[in-house]
Amino acid sequence: MSVFRPGRLRTLLCASAALILICTFYLYWTPPPASTVPSTAFEVPLTERQSAFWKVLKVILDTHAPNCPSPTLRLPVDAKHFNATASDPRPDYILLGNEELQAMKDAHASYINDVKNTRKLRPVHAPGTRGLISTAGGSYLPVFLSSLRMLRRTGSTLPVEVYMKDATEYEKSICTNVLPDLGAKCLILSDIVGKDTIQHYQLKVFAVLFSSFEEIIWMDADCFPLDKPEILLNHEPFTSTGMVTWPDFWASSISPLYFEISQQEIPPMTERQSSETGVFLISKKTHYLTLLLAAYYNYYGPSHYFRLLSQGAAGEGDKETFIQAATAVGQPFYAVSERVQALGRHKPDGFSGSAMAQSDPIGDYALTSQGKWRVQDPSVDRPPRVFFVHANYPKFNPAEYIFGDKWETAPTLRPDGTEGRAWTAPEDVLRRFGLDIEKAYWEEIKTLSCDPEIKFKTWKAKTEVCKKVESYWDTVFAEPHEDDPKFVEEG
Ligand SMILES: *[C@@H]1O[C@H](CO)[C@@H](O)[C@H](O)[C@H]1NC(C)=O
Repeated sequence: MSVFRPGRLRTLLCASAALILICTFYLYWTPPPASTVPSTAFEVPLTERQSAFWKVLKVILDTHAPNCPSPTLRLPVDAKHFNATASDPRPDYILLGNEELQAMKDAHASYINDVKNTRKLRPVHAPGTRGLISTAGGSYLPVFLSSLRMLRRTGSTLPVEVYMKDATEYEKSICTNVLPDLGAKCLILSDIVGKDTIQHYQLKVFAVLFSSFEEIIWMDADCFPLDKPEILLNHEPFTSTGMVTWPDFWASSISPLYFEISQQEIPPMTERQSSETGVFLISKKTHYLTLLLAAYYNYYGPSHYFRLLSQGAAGEGDKETFIQAATAVGQPFYAVSERVQALGRHKPDGFSGSAMAQSDPIGDYALTSQGKWRVQDPSVDRPPRVFFVHANYPKFNPAEYIFGDKWETAPTLRPDGTEGRAWTAPEDVLRRFGLDIEKAYWEEIKTLSCDPEIKFKTWKAKTEVCKKVESYWDTVFAEPHEDDPKFVEEG
């Protein structure tokens, strides 16, 4: 029984007032643009912090060059599906002499030593901040904008920084009129590192290092979330590890020589899949050293490390550099184990995929922390929900190949040549979505295609694009259709 006491009433009133204040603040507060975030912690503006950081890092990178010719690949690896219970031996196709091997090993060790001990290598981010980063330019910019709208659709309020390679990719009207309202800011990488120092496929790790955020969600321009991604930063497995990655379809094809160079034990092929870096989470507070080593692997990626880490397998590039940097310096991470799923439709000549579905790490961790590994035995439990879609092949840019122009297997065409959905299979994967994500995605694509304020450099005939998208929408999504999959689990 509660007894009335004036003191308690006062507490209650204060608590209610505080709650109202907090709610009002929450309702009317919008995150400030990234450029204005850190004012107390840093007097120096972001661009100056970035330049100072790069000046120091570049010298260290150049000082510890691998010091030998590029490794030779005898033959490229054939992509093999990952098998968690039995596997083929690790492919070993790199030719590298003993002297070269020793040179790479020494440079690797001395680089790590140097970045650990260089006091002047001050991180650029503001402590306590979090945000999402991506890169976009040219025909990726419309795709990025659809992804950004999908992000906001989830209710996410994370500030966003989008990196463009150089001034040629910067689109003033999008960057100043469209993105700020969506909480996103454009940054130009060549302003920091100069022209042609860093190519597109190396951009990721540098964008992460140059970003003003401390806790980071990386999303490729063609990836979007199904729920607020900030949830992932507040829960395990991110909270205890500070780094979460997602899998590719394929088995690892890292050369045994890489492990020798980085002085690590050679892991079994069954340990985990190769990684897919369309999305990852990382904290610079806990994984600064990992990122600095990943920067080394990317800086010397085209000449040495990409080859060592993939041996010419599908998607050779930065994909393995993040996890391997973490293992090489002994920092923890959680690699989502639930298999990535291809989304697409059945065609007469078999399944044709145009996107990938990646799972919720919170749900994956809930299973694996109980010793339930669906990757070994899918019958142990139900799969976690889908959290990200990577719509990568082809890109869902309505001014390009998506409708079949110059693209024989247009994902928007049914086998009989009529227009339809791109994602109608596999049905069990679509049921893990919980909602009609394809319709939502096209709603956003339609909005930006038909908004006269939105003008992309690469869209010469904007009115045509809008008309095309509207007619596709009317045919496929306006009314329920027999082709429509079910998006919720039954029973
Ligand atoms: C893994 O390999 C074993 C042995 O070859 C095979 O029985 C099993 O079906 C494979 N699993 C998958 C998921 O491919």
